[in-house]
Amino acid sequence: MRRAQIKNRRATNNRDEALHTAVVGLQWGDEGKGKIVDLLTADHDVIVRYNGGANAGHTMVVGDQRYAVHLIPAGILYPDKVCVIGNGVVVDPQKLIEEIEALRGRGVEVGDNLRVSDRAHVVMPYHKEHDAALENVLSKAVSGSEKSVDLSIGTTRRGIGPAYADKVQRSTAIRMGELLDGERLRAKLRVICAIRQRELEALGVQAAPLNADALASQHAAIGRRLAGHITDTVYLLHDYLEQDRRILFEGANACLLDIDHGTYPYVTSSNCSTLGIPAGTGVPGTHIHRVLGIMKAYSTRVGAGPFPTEQVNAIGDRIRERGHEYGTTTGRPRRCGWLDLVAVRYSAMVCGATGLACMLLDVLSGIDELKICTQYRLPDGSVTDRFIPDAVRLGEVQPIYTTLPGWSEEIDEATDRTALPANARRYLERIEQIVGIPVEIVSVGPERTQTLLEV
Ligand code: GDP
Ligand code: IMO
Ligand code: MG
Repeated sequence: MRRAQIKNRRATNNRDEALHTAVVGLQWGDEGKGKIVDLLTADHDVIVRYNGGANAGHTMVVGDQRYAVHLIPAGILYPDKVCVIGNGVVVDPQKLIEEIEALRGRGVEVGDNLRVSDRAHVVMPYHKEHDAALENVLSKAVSGSEKSVDLSIGTTRRGIGPAYADKVQRSTAIRMGELLDGERLRAKLRVICAIRQRELEALGVQAAPLNADALASQHAAIGRRLAGHITDTVYLLHDYLEQDRRILFEGANACLLDIDHGTYPYVTSSNCSTLGIPAGTGVPGTHIHRVLGIMKAYSTRVGAGPFPTEQVNAIGDRIRERGHEYGTTTGRPRRCGWLDLVAVRYSAMVCGATGLACMLLDVLSGIDELKICTQYRLPDGSVTDRFIPDAVRLGEVQPIYTTLPGWSEEIDEATDRTALPANARRYLERIEQIVGIPVEIVSVGPERTQTLLEV
């Protein structure tokens, strides 16, 4: 590359500082990413999903209207913005069509403003069957010593793991672009279905044989239906970068569910941390200078896996009921507990968070004393402030808490941070101190306007 071009590229990088933003969950999901993406969309031009699939459920509330999206970026409510489903997403195309129709049915424009990567992988019906069958088998697995061990993860059964497994396996995978070539799809599915049939039978699935030709026709029809949305989103995003259009990257799932950096094996199958952005979109990480880490004012988790601050008691129940902590995708009750700042600080580090959004602070109103976990005690009695992204070892720690006084006032009508009760402000300040980055946004209710932006 010639010298002038190199200079030019550097200038671009300086110019786009803080133009582009990433929104990422710092806990185990459902932190309120949808609300913040919806809010920040106003200041961006392009909103991009880079990971996960229909396991995500992102909620936006505008006035008395509540929307939940699973595959489509949460920026879709703004008709003049472009929403992109990047190559790192696994797309259940039938669900995508249903989501498009449901939004259109409510007057939301979904047309040229939705672009889907031709390289995003397809979640096929047999992936969902495989996901559910494997979970069933693993939930009653018997080890060599005849002792039953439950190895299930509590997945959303949306076929996420099997679809990503096919992606890595390669020859048995199908990408969105391939839905546009019916003949090749049919030939490929005949081979794949023969293999899948045997695998499903081995997992005890008694269902009717997979019909490759029917599946191919159905998916070719889906391809025709979605053809107008499917494109090379890598070049598309780089064209937008050249035009100085502002990009908002929308993380699905959350850092502690990241396949490499989460509480393995109780994680999902993608890089949900910001580290997944370059691979999942084709946009180098050097473009992203603002990373907003989304955290609840407490902790929740859906599915199995270690959760050191979990409260299986009246406090956990209270948080669940006040916070309506039931899954957006599966309706499952979420496990609830105190805020774990060892975990949040770790996620903020891995994701390179430059600021925090503290969500659902209103849910804590009326609790006399609030606990924040700042360290873990290990089985040998030693103390650490480092997170342990390993399920077995994390399951053995005891949380060490700092106790803070609560506040009794309802805060859902507060309009700026200075109007919050003194103890609520202290709670936020303690988070900033321990995590070491500012709380830029405080959320006191699900509605778009119930957001305190001033710091
Ligand atoms: P996401 O997956 O991170 O987008 O989060 P979900 O949409 O799955 O779950 C967050 C839930 O909390 C949704 O029902 C939101 O409407 C709701 N919510 C978001 N922020 C607040 C808040 O500040 N207060 C309350 N009470 N609810 C909130
Ligand atoms: P959003 O984007 C909460 C969890 C599942 C399960 C594990 C693996 O709404 O925050 P999977 O179906 O991905 O194989 O399940 O990951 N999980 C989530 N939990 N919010 C999510 O997404 C999640 N996506 C996956 O409950 O424990
Ligand atoms: Mg969710």
